[in-house]
Amino acid sequence: MPDREYVIDPMISAKTIAARIEALSREIGAAFAGTEKLVVVGLLRGSFVFIADLVREIDMPVEVDFLEATSYGNAMESSREVRILKDLRGKIEGRDVLVVEDIVDTGHTLKHVLGLLAARNPARLKSIALLDKPSRRETDIRADWIGFEIPDEFVVGYGIDFAQRNRNLPYIGKVRFV
Ligand code: IMP
Repeated sequence: MPDREYVIDPMISAKTIAARIEALSREIGAAFAGTEKLVVVGLLRGSFVFIADLVREIDMPVEVDFLEATSYGNAMESSREVRILKDLRGKIEGRDVLVVEDIVDTGHTLKHVLGLLAARNPARLKSIALLDKPSRRETDIRADWIGFEIPDEFVVGYGIDFAQRNRNLPYIGKVRFV
């Protein structure tokens, strides 16, 4: 439980998110035209709402798989250790893969996961992030598709948590301590 009280200021409405996902899905469909069955990999837990809405807008056969990674920050260094807590169930060799992330912040998580999956020789490996905080980046990674670029704010909702709270908000809001 967060030990300070906070309020959530709305930032991106459910309607705006839905419209953006519809547009992104069209781009993804065009990019993967001809793919027999796209493997869509959600990074747990923050992407569970995003991936659910995204796959329902993608008009082609998809297979859904999940991977859970956790990153431990080290106050003394900018590099982070990323650990895999749950690996994919399926094989991705020779397949077209789309990795779905909630937020790219420092970029260590996405960079590590893409490196891990690239080593399994997929035919194509692309990534999408609902939110991107470019000002926080510590790596050279950028998702192929981005929903919204946001400033350096701590956000919650639409699957994204603050100490395991607020994932069920239908919109994205920023945390403000009071
Ligand atoms: P990165 O490895 O620093 O890019 O961290 C990405 C992960 O940190 C995301 O998948 C989120 O789980 C978490 N994260 C980053 N920024 C926020 C935020 O504003 N709210 C909640 N979680 C965040």
